[in-house]
Amino acid sequence: MKGIILAGGSGSRLYPITKVYSKQLAVIYDKPLIYYPLSVLMLGGIKEVLIISNEETIPLYRSLFGDGSHLGMAISYKLQDAPRGIAESFILGAEFIGDDNVTLILGDNIFFGEIEFFYKAVAQHKSGAKIFGYRVTDPERYGIVNFDRTGKVLSIEEKPKMPKSNYAVPGLYIYDKDVVEISKNLKPSARGELEITDVNNEYLKREELMVELIGRGVAWLDTGTPQALLQASNFFGVIEERQGLKVACIEEIAFAKGFINEAEFRDVIGTIPQSMYRQYLEKVLQEFEEKR
Ligand code: TTP
Repeated sequence: MKGIILAGGSGSRLYPITKVYSKQLAVIYDKPLIYYPLSVLMLGGIKEVLIISNEETIPLYRSLFGDGSHLGMAISYKLQDAPRGIAESFILGAEFIGDDNVTLILGDNIFFGEIEFFYKAVAQHKSGAKIFGYRVTDPERYGIVNFDRTGKVLSIEEKPKMPKSNYAVPGLYIYDKDVVEISKNLKPSARGELEITDVNNEYLKREELMVELIGRGVAWLDTGTPQALLQASNFFGVIEERQGLKVACIEEIAFAKGFINEAEFRDVIGTIPQSMYRQYLEKVLQEFEEKR
């Protein structure tokens, strides 16, 4: 399984924050937003990740993550020179995907809590497409999945005026390699974008679309507006302070998942400037050593 983070976009709803830099670099409590979707992929065991973004931001992501080798990962970058739609990810990522399955996560989507559903979905994915359904109070703002009593998908509608369900499709999708060819055959929508909903509807037509509902133990936050940014910051501030554990700390996750060994973890910590972040990682290492 490979992973793509789509982290460009115009971020117009966050102007003027996004006048000079990408929304995925906005701060959520104590770290850049993009750490959160990256950590979801890592927790799913995905080591090969392509970050797609615009010309100005790719160098910034590169200075954040490099080639990923210090995390035991392979992180590469691809230019999307204009926000031509979410489904363009698979055209830009065609070579990266090759013959493998791929998970796409939108750079402004955060999942927290009981996310074992995702580990399982990654581990079990063989072919076709899998999307998720998450209950929301404002379905008219999202892509909405309609399904029958048995859970069979009937349709997916983009921002419906009369939603047939309360289940939104979050920005987390798992596909087989056919997604490349499907995306290449898409026509831009009325708003001039290659729509992810059209990709999913094609899988639906082929009877290869699976939907899994995500339970209430998962927080799905999207961070497209100033209010949502503030809510997410407050949310993670409360959790981190209460537990003394960090969310989306990529170095810790790399170590916990076995992407890097103890010596490599120590080396990584050594490269981080003196800070609360470094002190936290030193504590993680120390607790690991004490348990041995
Ligand atoms: P959106 O929230 O649909 O759009 P946006 O980020 O451009 O923001 P706004 O609506 O305020 O103008 O994008 C969802 C995510 O996907 C976000 O992380 C940006 C990213 N994205 C791209 O990188 N390229 C694209 O072509 C599109 C449509 C989105």
